[in-house]
Amino acid sequence: MSATKVRTGPLAVFEANLLAGHVALVTGGGTGICRGIAQAFAACGADVCIVGRKGEVLAQTAAEMSAATGRDIFFVPCDVRQPDAVADAIAQTIAKFGHLDTVVNGAAGNFLAPAAALSANGFRTVVDIDLCGTFNVARAAFEALRLGGRGLIINISATLHYGGTPLQIHASAAKAGVDAVTRNLAVEWGQFGIRVNGIAPGPIAETEGMRRLAGSAADKAKASVPLGRFGAIEEIAAAAVFLRSSAAAYITGTTLVVDGGQSVVAAAAHMMMT
Ligand code: HXC
Repeated sequence: MSATKVRTGPLAVFEANLLAGHVALVTGGGTGICRGIAQAFAACGADVCIVGRKGEVLAQTAAEMSAATGRDIFFVPCDVRQPDAVADAIAQTIAKFGHLDTVVNGAAGNFLAPAAALSANGFRTVVDIDLCGTFNVARAAFEALRLGGRGLIINISATLHYGGTPLQIHASAAKAGVDAVTRNLAVEWGQFGIRVNGIAPGPIAETEGMRRLAGSAADKAKASVPLGRFGAIEEIAAAAVFLRSSAAAYITGTTLVVDGGQSVVAAAAHMMMT
């Protein structure tokens, strides 16, 4: 298919076809932040496969993304909790595009629940999707990532677990584990030319999480960000394109926080600033 049609906003700084010849598989790529990452990769010339649980959502997203970028977007319905299904999605992507050099682990489940009312299965479900799913995909992609000599895994994390976050014990525990996976795999797989990094988004507009915040809660959330605004999906996507680019060739084992400074505000800061 023809090359890039659309690179706007934060993505405009990247050269068209920056990622030509790259093949990326993006879990959770049907919606939200990971849809934005998948589209940015395609807009920079990569071949992209999006993975998610709902085939109809993937099909619609792939069609829209294809229209926006002028590229053929592949999709495979798959639950990242199922290692065999994950292995099959990776095999299909390689069969379609010839190889695989980039994996973005973005599939995540979440809901608000007080710890005292959360069932064991509710806790386990989110850990299964976010943490075990990240491991399943990385493990299944290892051989393909190793073969090309320029493998990259990007694990989508969060900032929830940098402190205690009410109603988020399950997601916080899962994302803390995801950060551990990022560091461990970076150490073990660096010798194979595989870089492993994370991105920890702060409050990002037009995402499911932010849609659930309404009225004064949204205003308060915005006020908690030093830069004074929510981030844009394209700003997370730009971080992902940077990590995939050769400009990040010596970066591994780190999680890039993209949150407008929200997570570095000290608890006592509100006493000093009015
Ligand atoms: C309490 C809940 C619940 C809720 C599910 N459970 N929703 N408990 N409050 N709102 C419990 C169920 O009761 C059940 O436990 C267990 O979780 C499994 O639920 P199922 O519905 O059977 O599981 P499943 O179909 O696999 O789907 C679960 C889910 C789904 C993945 C969590 O609800 C979901 O997809 N939610 C939205 C996904 C989403 O928003 N993704 C974006 C994540 S953003 P019992 O004991 O009853 O069997 C993100 C960023 C973090 O992660 C940062 C945010 C600021």
